[in-house]
Amino acid sequence: MSANKIVTLDELRANKSKDKFYILIHEKVYDVTKFMDEHPGGDEVILAEGGQDATEAFEDVGHSDEARALLPGMLVGDFEKGSGLKLKSGAAAAQASRVAGAVEQGSNLMYFVPLGLLGGYFAWRYYTTGSA
Ligand code: HEM
Repeated sequence: MSANKIVTLDELRANKSKDKFYILIHEKVYDVTKFMDEHPGGDEVILAEGGQDATEAFEDVGHSDEARALLPGMLVGDFEKGSGLKLKSGAAAAQASRVAGAVEQGSNLMYFVPLGLLGGYFAWRYYTTGSA
């Protein structure tokens, strides 16, 4: 386990020019200075996320696994905890995805319970009429 460098909110805010640009995604800070020019979505959308949490913007696009695989190579460090910056990732996001998962499971049950009952009914019909 290597201890990552901690990037402070001041550092994040200090690096939001084309000469040096940090982006905050999922509580980690990445140096995208070089990558910006190559970004398929253009540099403007990245520049717009300077000095703040870009997690939501990044996730809303539905970036591919290939896009995510680029992140580790640009990692600067972990974002400081308790910076006062409102994070869109972390506990709230994790909870949201747990809720989404539970809802999905719930809706699966909504299919299987009635189907199960229906199957049970026909099985019962089959056995009772068959022996009558
Ligand atoms: C370091 C962070 C980022 C990386 C490594 C990255 C990487 C990529 C890659 C590889 C693509 C091509 C499609 C794909 O593979 O999903 C892409 C597309 C795109 N990205 Fe990013 N991206 C980053 C941040 C952002 C941010 C903060 C935004 C803000 C909204 C953004 C907006 C977009 C858009 C709109 C596209 C679609 C472009 C198109 O298909 O015309 N990206 N990005």
